Amino acid sequence: MAGLILGIETSCDETAAAVVAGGRRLLTNIISSQIELHQPFGGVVPELASRNHLENINLIIQEALAAAGVSWKDLDGIAVTYGPGLVGALLVGVTVAKAIAFARRLPLVGVNHLEGHIYANFLAHPHLEPPFVSLVVSGGHTDLLHVLGYGRYRILGRTRDDAAGEAFDKVARVLGLGYPGGPQIEAAAREGNPGAISFPRAVVKDAPFDFSFSGLKTAVLNYLNRSRQRGEIINAADVAASFQEAVVEVLVERTLAAAARCRVDRVAVCGGVAANSALRSLFQAQSAGTGIEVLYPPPVLCTDNGAMIASVGYYRLQAGHTAPLDLNAVPNLPLENWG
Ligand code: KG4
Ligand code: ZN
Repeated sequence: MAGLILGIETSCDETAAAVVAGGRRLLTNIISSQIELHQPFGGVVPELASRNHLENINLIIQEALAAAGVSWKDLDGIAVTYGPGLVGALLVGVTVAKAIAFARRLPLVGVNHLEGHIYANFLAHPHLEPPFVSLVVSGGHTDLLHVLGYGRYRILGRTRDDAAGEAFDKVARVLGLGYPGGPQIEAAAREGNPGAISFPRAVVKDAPFDFSFSGLKTAVLNYLNRSRQRGEIINAADVAASFQEAVVEVLVERTLAAAARCRVDRVAVCGGVAANSALRSLFQAQSAGTGIEVLYPPPVLCTDNGAMIASVGYYRLQAGHTAPLDLNAVPNLPLENWG
């Protein structure tokens, strides 16, 4: 099987479709971002997201096929994100994928969005094979996983409250930096001093690989309130840099400790926050001399895309996992082992 898979992703605020060969080779990766649509509201408005997906999805799919020079009959399967995510947004992709699978008699594969993020590293690094440790850091997740094989995961730790990306978004909002917060904080932090303010690094008792970011977010809020009450001038760049430092420090430290514990020599970082350059620099600095190699996808494959979904779809299809045509969206879909 040539393994040409069309991957469809509509779980949040990106309408995306891609064609991937053999789970690893990207032919096209078309992404329509809704950032401008949600920007005036300071965050994703679910109802607007669904409607916009609906308007764009057919066009995005057509574009993905046309740019790849692929027609329907060349495809070996349709992969679609069915969770976790916003239910109305997920339903657009799931419904379109089911309709195509039915009309074109193609196998349908349901894909977990979180698993998709991990597989972005298979696209970026064609020779990467399990086992490795993966840090998934996005707007919805902060999970540390031992990837034992395709479809075989052991959860080592996760956030107890806010996801790292969510913390970036919330802190950006209180600093008046706008949405999405991650790239804004990163840009502001470049002008600031990461050592200016000492924000807390939370440790979760008896869970060395878990995270907690809500206390950090509160600490930033308290700092801002206190400074305002005292009439002090707030240096937003220093706040952004100090906050970012607090987040990336715990991410790097716990991930490298997990890699050592699992005795793996490779770490694959993924999800929107993996695009952050401070995170990448600290990983590079801290992993030097440890024998642990830290891998990332390029930024376009860190944030949501259809290619990562097509990659999972390929491996699931190879393992014989197709979805029925009554596949439904599952907003809180857990990561399951299938391999
Ligand atoms: O993976 P993603 O596109 O969507 C989810 O599955 O959540 O991740 C989006 C998240 C947002 O919270 C965004 O602020 C964050 O990733 N993000 C970043 C950066 N780029 C995106 N966070 C820190 N630094 C960045 N450069
Ligand atoms: Zn995502």
